[in-house]
Amino acid sequence: LPLRIYGDRQNSAGVEFGDRDALKELMDGMEDAIATVKAHPLIPGVKAHRGGVDVRSPAEPGRVVGTIAQAARDDIDIAMKAARGGFGRWSRLPAAKRAAALARAADLLEAERDRFMSLLSLEAGKTLDDGIAEIREAVDFCRYYGLQAEKLFDEPKSMPGPTGEENRYGWRGRGVFACVSPWNFPLAIFLGQVTAALAAGNAVIAKPAEQTPLIAFEAVRLLHKAGVPEDVLIYLPGDGETGAALVAHPEIDGVAFTGSTGTARAINRTLAAKDGPIVPLIAETGGLNAMIVDATALPEQVADDVIMSAFRSAGQRCSALRILFLQDDVADRMLEMIEGATRELHLGQPQRADTDVGPIIDEGQRSMLAAHVAEMRKSQTVRFAGEAPREGSFFAPHIVELDKPSALKEEVFGPILHVVRWKAGTLDRVLNDIDTSGYGLTLGLHTRIESRIAKVLSRLDTGNIYVNRNTIGAVVGTQPFGGSGLSGTGFKAGGPTYLCRFAQEQVVSINT
Ligand code: SER
Repeated sequence: LPLRIYGDRQNSAGVEFGDRDALKELMDGMEDAIATVKAHPLIPGVKAHRGGVDVRSPAEPGRVVGTIAQAARDDIDIAMKAARGGFGRWSRLPAAKRAAALARAADLLEAERDRFMSLLSLEAGKTLDDGIAEIREAVDFCRYYGLQAEKLFDEPKSMPGPTGEENRYGWRGRGVFACVSPWNFPLAIFLGQVTAALAAGNAVIAKPAEQTPLIAFEAVRLLHKAGVPEDVLIYLPGDGETGAALVAHPEIDGVAFTGSTGTARAINRTLAAKDGPIVPLIAETGGLNAMIVDATALPEQVADDVIMSAFRSAGQRCSALRILFLQDDVADRMLEMIEGATRELHLGQPQRADTDVGPIIDEGQRSMLAAHVAEMRKSQTVRFAGEAPREGSFFAPHIVELDKPSALKEEVFGPILHVVRWKAGTLDRVLNDIDTSGYGLTLGLHTRIESRIAKVLSRLDTGNIYVNRNTIGAVVGTQPFGGSGLSGTGFKAGGPTYLCRFAQEQVVSINT
C-alpha cells in the first residue's frame, strides 16, 4: 500500500508480503516472541491479583495464551479515586507533552511489532495481513491524535472583541473517561479510544473486551512505559457486568464505547438515569452495510472487492459488507465469479502465510453464525456454504440469496454474505431499503455512471461511502471512520474533529 501523509508525518509502514525475506523475518520474529502473558488489573494501590483464568486461542482451543485475573467490583472505586488524581496533573500538561508520550508509544509499538503480532494471532486469531494492518492503525492513532491535540488544544486562542476586553477560547479534558472496547480490533480500537481520551487531557479507565484482555494489558503497559502515568491510564479487565458497573459509576465524566447497538443503548440509558452531570457517550456500533452493483460495473473488480469486504477478517469488522444489491442483468455472472473466488479462500491457522480466513473469536459467536444460516435455510436460498476445519472455532464463508432485503434485519457478525437482486429502474427502491434499515456505517457502490454516483451520494447519509473499491480498512487521517443512526454517535475515529468530543470548551473573558 502506498504511504499516505497526514500533517508532516507518514502512516506507519507495512510489510511487503511478496518479499520472502520480509515475510520470513516477520514469521520468525513472531515465533521467537511467543510468551505466556499473565494479565491482571493495573490500578495504583491495588496489589496484583493472583491466579486467573486461562485465555485460549480461538484457532487452537487446546492452546493457552495466558491468564487473566479479572478486576473485583471494589476495584472500580479505587481506580476512580486514583484516576481523579491523575487527571488533575495530566490535564494541566501542555498538549505537546501528552502528544510526546503518545509518539513514544507509537515508536515502541513499531519496535515491538513481532510480540504484538504473535498475540494478535494467538489471542484474537488475526491473520498476518490483518495483524500488520491492525498494528499500523494503532500506531497511526497514537501519532495522529497526538498531532491533533497539539493543533487543537495547544494555547487558548484569542477571540475578537471590544477594546478593553480580552477573550480567550480553549479546551480542557472532561475528567475520567471509561473506554469500553471490542474484541475485533483488540489493539487498534482499544488504543484508538484510549489515546484519543488521553490526548484530549482525560484520565482513562479502560475495560477491554472479555475475549481479548491480554493484548490490552500489553498495550497499557506499553503506554505506561512511554510516559503515561499509571494513575492516568488504568487497566480494568472484566466481563460485561464490570463494564456496566464502570459506566454506572457516579464519577465517570465520559464514555467511549465500540460494540453492539444494543449495548450502546443500554449505556445511554444508564447515563441518562444518573443524577449529577450530563455524561457524553461516544459510541461506534454496528452496520447493515450494503454494496450496490449495477450493470456497468467491472465484474473482476466487483468480485475482488466483494470478497475483501465480506470475508476478510472472517467478516468480523463493523465495516464488513453484509448485503450485496446486484442488478438483475448481471447478477448470475457476478455471482458465479464471486462464488468461484470464495471457493478459493483458504481457511486455516492465522499465523500461516497462506491463510485467507482465520477463526471466529469464540464458540458463542460461531454458533450464532451457524444458527443464522440454519434459520436462513428455512425461507431463503443458501447458494454457497464453504467447509470449515473441524478443530478450532472456524466458520466458512457462506453466500445467501434473499428474496427481499427485509429478510435480513440485523447485523450478523461473520463471513456470511447476503445477496439481493434489483431490476433496472428500481434504484430508488434499493436506496430506500438501505435507508430504512436505520444503520449508516459503510456503503459500497460499483458503477461507471457518474450521475448515479451523485444520486446515491445525495440520497444516503451513510458515514463512509466507498465507490468502485472495497468497503473496509479505513486509514487513519485519510478515511475518518464512523457511522450515523443506529451505527454511532460520531465524530469520526481517525478524523480531525474526533478529539473535540473528548474535551470541553472554555471561554474566559477579562475586562482589562
Ligand atoms: N476501521 C475498520 C475498517 O474500516 C472498522 O471495522 O475496516
